[in-house]
Amino acid sequence: MSVASNALRRDETAGAPPQDFDIRPLPGGIGAEITGIDLGLPLSAGDFARVRRAHLDHHVVVFRDQRITPQQHIDFSRRFGRLMIHVLHQFHLPGHPEILIVSNILEDGKPIGLGDAGKYWHSDISYKPLPSLGSLLHAQELPAEGGDTLFADMHLAYDTLPAHLRRAIEGRRAVHSYLAKYGQLQQEGNWRPNLSAEQLAQVREVVHPVVRTHPETRRQALFVSEGFTTRIEGMPADESRAILDELFAHSIRPEHIYRHAWRAHDLVFWDNRSLIHLAAGCPPHLRRKLYRTTIEGDTPF
Ligand code: OGA
Ligand code: MN
Repeated sequence: MSVASNALRRDETAGAPPQDFDIRPLPGGIGAEITGIDLGLPLSAGDFARVRRAHLDHHVVVFRDQRITPQQHIDFSRRFGRLMIHVLHQFHLPGHPEILIVSNILEDGKPIGLGDAGKYWHSDISYKPLPSLGSLLHAQELPAEGGDTLFADMHLAYDTLPAHLRRAIEGRRAVHSYLAKYGQLQQEGNWRPNLSAEQLAQVREVVHPVVRTHPETRRQALFVSEGFTTRIEGMPADESRAILDELFAHSIRPEHIYRHAWRAHDLVFWDNRSLIHLAAGCPPHLRRKLYRTTIEGDTPF
């Protein structure tokens, strides 16, 4: 982006009038719903601060009725940080590599997007040295049944961890790999292209703390998931497997979960440092399409 367009955006933002919108916590204690805001307009500094605070406090915010373009989706996302470009360039929105198409739709027999995104619980891009701060998913086409997205609160998971698990993971680090489930997903469906040498080089496995501190709220959160975490470092393989399985099961206890039933034009913004998420799936003959941007975060500590 040019210096000129950056400067323009700052000026617009400074002069933006406040919007009259509501932030309501969702029943169940995880997530909040925001109504009456138009993310297609530049947000004033005060409005942006309210949205940012809601995201930190509730971990997932649901903006209803956002009739915004891909460029507006990108511009809003960018206010939170650098955007990440997904390794599966096959599924970028043409002209907008910052957007990953999440979709089960085939056109001329070819997938237009990632059809099995989120099939296993995960935190977006935890397989990179700088995992994601948060992701913004915008509904384009929704199935008449199914297609929900589930979010599990990893602060709650950490806070309620049984003593033996807490002891077992103290000071530990775990390996995260994009390839953890890749082969399995290739066998289960037709969505996963073979990766080129260049793509493989972008997804070398990384190590992160099993318990991370949220860089903004300072709350501790469990930071492992079935989707990307393969083993705990420095532990015998069978012990690591057993502990990870217990951690995964504990993370997704029903009381830790918000289940999002999508409505037309929803834009959902979650915190990948606080939550893991899962696509519940929908009947394969029903079309589902969403656009995702992903904001880069910090080195987990
Ligand atoms: C994602 C994802 C879940 C869904 O886009 O990061 O995990 O329900 N999607 O589509
Ligand atoms: Mn995801």
